[in-house]
Amino acid sequence: MKKINIAIDGYSSCGKGTLAKQMAQSLGYLFVDSGAMYRAVTLYLLENIIEISDEIAVSKALENIQLEFHPSKENNRFEIHLNGRNVESLIREIHIANKVSFVAKISAVRKKLVEIQQQIGEHKGVVMDGRDIGTVVYPDAELKIFMTASNEVRAQRRFNEMIAAGKNVTLEEVSANLIERDTIDSSRDDSPLTLNESYHLLDNSNITPNQQFELAMSWVNELLD
Ligand code: DC
Repeated sequence: MKKINIAIDGYSSCGKGTLAKQMAQSLGYLFVDSGAMYRAVTLYLLENIIEISDEIAVSKALENIQLEFHPSKENNRFEIHLNGRNVESLIREIHIANKVSFVAKISAVRKKLVEIQQQIGEHKGVVMDGRDIGTVVYPDAELKIFMTASNEVRAQRRFNEMIAAGKNVTLEEVSANLIERDTIDSSRDDSPLTLNESYHLLDNSNITPNQQFELAMSWVNELLD
């Protein structure tokens, strides 16, 4: 059976991970959350008190960072491990979200993570979500989806998720963080989030997760038929 790579890019909290997971499960593919890798690097820098604006110090720190995805015991998904420690929950904290876009601007960080991401996708059969997957990581991905939704819908969804996970945040904080991250992620010099004609555009402000899954799978089936 022919295998493809699927790139899902888009703004923060558009449900990229939800769709990517569903597609990977249905196709028997590997789901990779590339944002988790940027978040784990951010956690390492904060924990080790490394100044994010000091690119030389950050580049040196990268030599001491090992990232791996391991299947979790409780739920059917892969969780990120930083130097052997499961940090899946820690990287979702708001203080990480507040810094991660600054870390993701650094070319040395991007270079290291893109290399790992490309190795993972070498043999196809990967659904990866992020910001530069269809432009830089897998420019030849057979299917590219660009997801978007209104600011209000995105902020409310991320807020609900964080509250359900026991995080202490306000809707205003979450909304301000999303807008700030989108601005930085779309305007940075290295690999900005960019929509081009190779993507299928998916605005899910007014459709259910099921509807978006059906739509995305219809694009896959066109390719695999
Ligand atoms: O998808 P996320 O919100 O977990 O991503 C966290 C941050 O990492 C986001 O602000 C942008 C950055 N990122 C990136 O620059 N490139 C990627 N491929 C994935 C994430």
